[in-house]
Amino acid sequence: MDAIALTDVSKSYGDTLAVDGLDLTVEVGRTVALLGPNGAGKSTSINMLLGLTRPTRGRVEVFGGSPGEAVARGDVGAMLQTGDLIPELTVRELVDFVRRLYPEPLGLDELLRMADLTDLARRPAGKLSGGQAQRVRFALAVAGAPRLLMLDEPTAAMDVESRLRFWKSMREYAAGGRTVLFATHYLEEADENSDRVVVIARGRIVADGTAAQIKAGSGDRVVRFVLGGQAVAGLDALPGVSAVEVADDVATLRTADPDATVAALYRGTSLEIRDLRIAGADLEDAFLALTREP
Ligand SMILES: Nc1ncnc2c1ncn2[C@@H]1O[C@H](COP(=O)(O)OP(=O)(O)O)[C@@H](O)[C@H]1O
Ligand SMILES: [Mg+2]
Repeated sequence: MDAIALTDVSKSYGDTLAVDGLDLTVEVGRTVALLGPNGAGKSTSINMLLGLTRPTRGRVEVFGGSPGEAVARGDVGAMLQTGDLIPELTVRELVDFVRRLYPEPLGLDELLRMADLTDLARRPAGKLSGGQAQRVRFALAVAGAPRLLMLDEPTAAMDVESRLRFWKSMREYAAGGRTVLFATHYLEEADENSDRVVVIARGRIVADGTAAQIKAGSGDRVVRFVLGGQAVAGLDALPGVSAVEVADDVATLRTADPDATVAALYRGTSLEIRDLRIAGADLEDAFLALTREP
């Protein structure tokens, strides 16, 4: 049985098609990143998996049943993009209060340690930084020892160090055979903290695999050269070229056929080409190409 199964799921808000025919299954024990730009449909997908909103079309299953059933059984923990903590309670009181709501919670000290909160246990929840509050939300999400954890952009308010600490906690939790689905628009986070990256844009899956596969799947190359102040026009009409960017006196051309592109650059234009380089598209290039507006 899969932890998550979305079958031809769509969700509209009025004229906005937030999710457009999504098919996605996640096996038990995997950590999957849902990677996409703002407005891609990540939160809408997670909210449907939590039973917080219903699909307009299609089927949403969690551990073979409805999301509501899975949540009611205590099988699902979540960190959403919104949600206030109770400001007067200390971190320790709040985490203990929530864990006691579950039939088989994790131990209080274990939770505080796992979420890196031991030193903050006596601090009122209302007096935490953004990153610290997110760590408390993480502790609350895992308090009931859920088999499935869903995290919606959990590191949005964090600095670099907090992020590293947060992902370490997440990986520790996932290591026990649990399933994690997290949304992010940070490519590096997806790459470093998941074993599968599902890229979504405009409500559709545009790539699905390991970060390395996504890189390789984009067969495009990048041709770069220094302009030396020359004005350029029409580079996007060269053979193979799908995108052109000019910045800091450097022209960057994305191309499916670098040989043809370079030949045409020399023969078909009057540009003086300086310092020409051809490189493989990196993950960033692949992501931008996949999620670019058509
Ligand atoms: N409650 C809502 N009412 C109307 N439109 C919404 C609502 N929630 C999301 N949307 C729209 O659906 C699209 C997908 O949003 P969302 O799932 O929040 O994307 P993401 O989490 O990837 O940034 C966006 O165009 C957004 O404006
Ligand atoms: Mg979102």
